[in-house]
Amino acid sequence: MISKAMAQRLNGQVNKEFYSAYFYMSMSAHSESENLKGIAAWFMAKYDEEMAHAMKIYRYLHDQGARVELDAVDKPPTTFAGVLDMFEKTLDHEREVTASFNELVDAALDERDHATNIFLQWFVTEQIEEEATVSDIIGRVKLVGERGEGLFMIDNELAGVAKQMSTTAAAQA
Ligand SMILES: [Fe+2]
Ligand SMILES: [Fe+2]
Repeated sequence: MISKAMAQRLNGQVNKEFYSAYFYMSMSAHSESENLKGIAAWFMAKYDEEMAHAMKIYRYLHDQGARVELDAVDKPPTTFAGVLDMFEKTLDHEREVTASFNELVDAALDERDHATNIFLQWFVTEQIEEEATVSDIIGRVKLVGERGEGLFMIDNELAGVAKQMSTTAAAQA
């Protein structure tokens, strides 16, 4: 059993994870219409990951006898200046999510809610990886540029990464 206040905070995080999924799907759609199939696949793999995050919290709320209350998901941006813009927006967004998990951990510690604190550790660790991955991609895009051959290279590389992400996700399911 967790407190009402904690359940409310976790419900808020479910919504944020759904927004993340929606946001990445929007960038996947944009990439696909720009013929960037690899980048589109990468963002779609991110979409799957974010949906899985939402469901992880959804499950936890039920397991703790709390109510899941779904809220409206905000409209994500639909136009982007380019590939670098999309990855920079992704990094900004992931940093906000990291801050949000840090606040959740603070609240769990304040309440001496050990179960929720332990549950949240997985997300805290996951956020380190997410920020690092996106920073790395931004660095590579800056290195090779966002047009012509450089862009083609990044698109191919991310197609491979997306395939790996899907295989890992399938193995964990
Ligand atoms: Fe997430
Ligand atoms: Fe994320």
